[in-house]
Amino acid sequence: MTEIPTVYVTRSIPEIGLKRLRERYEVVIWEEKLPPTKDHIVSRLAELDAEGLVCLLSDQVDAEVLDASPDLSVVSTFSVGYDHIDLDAAAERGIAVGHTPGVLTETTADLAWALLMTCARRTVEGHAYVAADEWETWGPTLLTGPDVHGATLGIVGLGNIGTATAKRAAGFEMEVRYSGRSRKPEREDELAEVGVEATYVERDELLAECDFVSLHVPLTGATAGLIGESELELMSEDAILINTSRGEVIDTDALDAALATGEIARAGLDVTDPEPLPSDHPLFRHAPERLVVTPHIGSASIGTRNQMAEMVAACTEAGIEGESLPHSALRDAGLE
Ligand code: GLV
Repeated sequence: MTEIPTVYVTRSIPEIGLKRLRERYEVVIWEEKLPPTKDHIVSRLAELDAEGLVCLLSDQVDAEVLDASPDLSVVSTFSVGYDHIDLDAAAERGIAVGHTPGVLTETTADLAWALLMTCARRTVEGHAYVAADEWETWGPTLLTGPDVHGATLGIVGLGNIGTATAKRAAGFEMEVRYSGRSRKPEREDELAEVGVEATYVERDELLAECDFVSLHVPLTGATAGLIGESELELMSEDAILINTSRGEVIDTDALDAALATGEIARAGLDVTDPEPLPSDHPLFRHAPERLVVTPHIGSASIGTRNQMAEMVAACTEAGIEGESLPHSALRDAGLE
């Protein structure tokens, strides 16, 4: 009798994905709230002779992990981002890498927009004010912020999520600028269809001219620290910076300094460096007046997380069966 392949899952993902995996495989799950250590993942993969690994963006998957089980044929990450996986090492070993693009695009754009609105209209501060029993009367200048409608939105990285975020500007009659490695006429057309005219500009121009700057680049060697001291200096003192991509895209110390000196007005971050951001981190002294932080929940709608669970299951199945993955990070990164 042939043995049933084993899949090791580093956290309890939504049941819909686990159920699908259990129909075909032995599924072993790390049930704790906090992630397993890398050493633990390595030893479990080895003990189980696992053929599949389902991981999260908080697990570092390097050559040591990839070598832990000689039978490992696929790693599927419950995320669109794959900066935590050594893709070159996976490609060298012929290990497939699945991820979850597409399904979380709109959900993450919704969160970028939630942060943008929150920072502009100071809703987190407003809530804290009411909760602290400070609300004594209607105030003519109480918690005033900039208008969102009619403002200028800058999108750094007009990929799927950047485009989805820009589309939402239509309802607010905003001007949209975008920057990136090159102009993207097909994205401009897509935006024009919903009434958004997006203009390609150099990044420095975007930073200098936009009221809101939203970051949508993947984390790579080229984008780490993309927004540092000199970029923040270019921004207006009324500008609001939104990050739903990866924390490392912003130089945290530079942001801390820019918020301290009032070089920019506010930042809304769903991703931070370090992550998680402890509440005694220096950056946190700016909250909630100048800083709003959410705990990396860009894709956290119930429907999207369920779809992501199904996608990692589908990628894992394909990898174990030796088929082409429906969503391959190696393919997306040009390594396949
Ligand atoms: C979230 O950040 C993801 O990469 O899915």
